[in-house]
Amino acid sequence: MPNAYISGTGFHVPPRVVTNDDLARDYGIDTTNEWIVQRTGIQERRFAEEGVGTSDLALPAAEMAIARAGIEKTDLDMIVFATLSPDHAFPGTGVYLQRKLGLLDGANPKFVPALDVRNQCSGFLYGLATATSIVQAGGARHILLVGAETHSAALDLTTRGRAVSSLFGDGAGAVIVSATEEDRGIRAWKLGSDGRFADHLCQKVWDTTKRPFIPQDARGIGQVDPSMMWASMDGRQVFRHAVERMIGVLMETCLKLGLTGNDIDLYAFHQANLRVNQYVQHQLGIPDEKVLHNIERYGNTTAATIPLLLAEAEQDGRLRRGMKVAMVAFGSGFTWGAAIADW
Ligand code: UT7
Repeated sequence: MPNAYISGTGFHVPPRVVTNDDLARDYGIDTTNEWIVQRTGIQERRFAEEGVGTSDLALPAAEMAIARAGIEKTDLDMIVFATLSPDHAFPGTGVYLQRKLGLLDGANPKFVPALDVRNQCSGFLYGLATATSIVQAGGARHILLVGAETHSAALDLTTRGRAVSSLFGDGAGAVIVSATEEDRGIRAWKLGSDGRFADHLCQKVWDTTKRPFIPQDARGIGQVDPSMMWASMDGRQVFRHAVERMIGVLMETCLKLGLTGNDIDLYAFHQANLRVNQYVQHQLGIPDEKVLHNIERYGNTTAATIPLLLAEAEQDGRLRRGMKVAMVAFGSGFTWGAAIADW
């Protein structure tokens, strides 16, 4: 059985920076820089321009990961795309990325499988577990795994929506999960979910219990009530469960490998809230220099946070070959996961 390792990382964020003050000034949201920084650590985020969707953000991230892995795009055997903000309700965004990568161009189109993963903030780790298992089973040698979000298209950028809209930003991260005979790679992963809390962080714009799924007016035009249109979140419940589950799943994954927290060289925690991660870090006694974060610059980019962290850290030299890396996430569902890799 081959090992599965991350052979390349890439990222892309849209150029437009939106600071906390911009949310107040440009969108008229009743908020302050102090409130957002104090509660979340976020200073600014990126918003993509109109006309740019999730597969567009994913494309440069994927191209960077392919280049850094030292492979050609035609070497890809599969695409796994994690997002909660797909280009469209269906089909999945993976097929749009396949097309934009040019895999279907020319005389020998690559009809690689494209799988979308819908596990929100844990989506990247659900995708990593899937890609790792397929590579280890011999089903693929190189899998492109992307986490990308265009949240700015679906944020209630008014005071009504401030508790959610001040947290999220747009961005994309990508990795290549490759087969290797070398003694390295993803050593263990663990995933979990608790559907009792499905309604505590959700966006119900798509509701198949309704006939039709979006109510219509007399002219047949869909009418979406704001309570359905925008994400809703019980922030305090999310905070409490995030801390508990992230600590639990990290410890379980370490235990699987007979490791302690001290054996880990670098932690890539999902970037939902700096305070959540600081709490986890302090509970486990993890020193600052072992923890990556970029939430202050990008906000919560959901499925993109972990690959974005990895790609930036590899670029600036903080993440190096031979390091033991722990990745941990928690989010809507509730869902959570962790993975440990020998880089
Ligand atoms: O991937 C999962 C993503 N989600 C998370 O990780 C969220 C985890 N939870 C949190 O980060 C925190 O719960 C929040 C930062 C979202 C909220 O902090 P909080 O201390 O739990 O605030 P709260 O929701 O209890 O709201 C307190 C007050 C409310 O005003 P009133 O009702 O007391 O008058 C909110 O309306 O703060 C108000 N508020 C804001 N004020 C200024 C909410 N958002 C804002 C804002 N600016 N952006």
